[in-house]
Amino acid sequence: MHTGQGIPRERLPQLLARMPKAELHIHIEGSLEPELIFRLAQRNGVALPYASVEELRKAYAFSNLQSFLDIYYAGASVLITEQDFHDMAQAYLRRAAADNVVHAEIFFDPQTHTARGVGMDTVINGLHRACAEAQAESGITASLILCFLRHLSEEEAFETLEQALPHRDKFIGVGLDSSEVGHPPEKFAKVFARCRELGLHLVAHAGEEGPPAYVWTALDLLKVERIDHGVQSIKDPALMARLVKDRIPLTVCPLSNLKLCVFPKLEEHNIGRLLEAGIVATINSDDPAYFGGYLNDNFLQTFAATGLTLQQAYQLAANSFEASFADASVKRRYNDLLDETFASFE
Ligand code: ADE
Ligand code: ZN
Repeated sequence: MHTGQGIPRERLPQLLARMPKAELHIHIEGSLEPELIFRLAQRNGVALPYASVEELRKAYAFSNLQSFLDIYYAGASVLITEQDFHDMAQAYLRRAAADNVVHAEIFFDPQTHTARGVGMDTVINGLHRACAEAQAESGITASLILCFLRHLSEEEAFETLEQALPHRDKFIGVGLDSSEVGHPPEKFAKVFARCRELGLHLVAHAGEEGPPAYVWTALDLLKVERIDHGVQSIKDPALMARLVKDRIPLTVCPLSNLKLCVFPKLEEHNIGRLLEAGIVATINSDDPAYFGGYLNDNFLQTFAATGLTLQQAYQLAANSFEASFADASVKRRYNDLLDETFASFE
């Protein structure tokens, strides 16, 4: 455990970049950079409603979650072959390793692809191959979490689970994402119960735009182990107490929250208050190609805007390992590496 005492504040940016960390909230389709969208569109003969990379980037001005999701699903339409899914994940994992991400748990949205006639095998095999190769290349440990789209029905989620089960060994858990308000967690209680029986890890987006009530039902009805976003929990003191007591991690995404207008300014983000309340909060990038930054950008900009401390930098990295689904021995190795990095800055 380090407090950061003895490390000069001016070394904070370098320390944030250098410290080992886990990324637990990254949608792989949200790592698809405009350049790769255009390259894959050309490779696959897919027509895009934008004339250039610059024109596409200009469309990345969002007013809320839905305005982003419309563009995000359109961007994913260039993904057709197993190689496409592999190349997207390979690009993310190389970028993450450069940010000293040593462990990544990666969301994917199979329904976005199977609805267009792309096979579940194509999606999972391409992503899984990239994860295995990345570990051999940089040592990064990476695993996959299958997300159900909450704007679709629970029946469709069950069909998706059925299609994915032949690949049970290639993903570690399930999540719930897409349009939150109007699609509460309880809509998916049965399919999450089934996933629990199957021994899958369970997470869900809740309290991004939606109310604290959605965080309660994600915990009590879906029985999730982590909450993705969860920043609205701060409005409910009893919920905050529950998250602290049960050490339920929140995977917070500051630049995402800024770009989707969840907070008007990064200076007003509540990550500092969540940490001070004793919540196992982590920092993540969500959809880095769309929100203007990968993991280190999220750390650097958030610390610059909110004045978080060196001790909180240590806490956030330690939380990321605690909150991960890595084996205990892997967690110990990464915590030791974190301690060594802080010691080297003293
Ligand atoms: N899918 C990709 N990014 C998302 C987000 N921030 N919230 C909900 N669904 C998503
Ligand atoms: Zn997300």
